[in-house]
Amino acid sequence: MDTKIIILDVNNIARDIINEAGQVIKDGGLVAFPTETVYGLGANALDKNAVEKIFKAKGRPQDNPLIVHVANCNIENLVKEVPNIANEIMSKYWPGPITLIFNKSELIPDTTSAGLKTVGIRMPSSIIARKLIEAAGTPIAAPSANISGRPSPTEVESCIEDLSGKIEYILGGEKSQIGLESTIVDCTCNPPCILRPGAITLEMLKEIDDRIYIDKSIMSKPKKDFKPRAPGMKYRHYAPKAPVKIISGDIEKTIAKINEIVQTNMGNKKIGIIATDETKDKYPYGTVVSLGNRKQLDTVGRNLFEVLRSFDAIDVDLILSEAFEEKGLGYAIMNRLKKSAGFDITLRIGK
Ligand code: TXA
Ligand code: MG
Repeated sequence: MDTKIIILDVNNIARDIINEAGQVIKDGGLVAFPTETVYGLGANALDKNAVEKIFKAKGRPQDNPLIVHVANCNIENLVKEVPNIANEIMSKYWPGPITLIFNKSELIPDTTSAGLKTVGIRMPSSIIARKLIEAAGTPIAAPSANISGRPSPTEVESCIEDLSGKIEYILGGEKSQIGLESTIVDCTCNPPCILRPGAITLEMLKEIDDRIYIDKSIMSKPKKDFKPRAPGMKYRHYAPKAPVKIISGDIEKTIAKINEIVQTNMGNKKIGIIATDETKDKYPYGTVVSLGNRKQLDTVGRNLFEVLRSFDAIDVDLILSEAFEEKGLGYAIMNRLKKSAGFDITLRIGK
């Protein structure tokens, strides 16, 4: 299939292009588009046949439900009810990087929800994304626009790499500002529960209701046959081709340990090191890439997936990564890093 690729100017979004891409969605086709979290691969959320094409193009497991993207808060027809707490979260954080889970209405096909009785809904803050949803005249179901299992794309080049030739349209125009997928909060239970950490942090949500909690199982290796509440959390994810190992604990000891592993393996392995601005000059060997300043976790989050992808491009055999403190945005960053590593933490030194 020929894929039409258009890079929009965010400061002057071409209406005819948005309308053309919206028409592709209306006609049951697929469009990759930017959002503030990661790029999405969109189809008409209410059209079962269109949604099936997403699963095919990504090679996505059939039991992994899709998030439905909307352009405003009028979601009454998509859900059975909107609990008060959901209304509060929406009025504070929509549009933005947070998905809420509701009991779904009959309008949402089972293919979109992968057979669940619930549906995840999000209003992105990206203007291009919202204009596209408006032009399509329908909610857009969109997983991240990567081949299943690879790190999510935060730049149009990564979408092109994964999906060119497989879908009708790729819209570019902005790098994803957050770079980590949305926080997911299950609002069908009381108190609500965080199923995937993201840029809207536990600490921020606790200001609305301090009983909100994180589903603890998401930070450890899933046991065999374990069924997480967000089905996607059980798959190996965000993973570059080479194995990833995280070294956690005291930073000086981390640096020493990474250097020791690199030196032991240098003869037969090409090793990538995920470092930070503060530490990057302390690794004399290996291919060192910095995620940014440790004190600016938003930069670290924004760079993480593209750094993981960059190691694929140079074919390293092993990736060693520093760790981050599991609080605030650090919780989401560590969740993605741990998943990319299959939860392999080589060394934990102290707390
Ligand atoms: O930031 C995002 O959320 C991005 C952009 C494109 O909006 N989308 C995204 O979609 O990350 P995806 O498909 O890569 O991840 C969706 C996650 C999966 O883990 C899935 O299992 C979970 O959301 N999910 C979707 N619907 C759900 C539901 N009804 N109940 C529980 N988990 C759900
Ligand atoms: Mg994904």
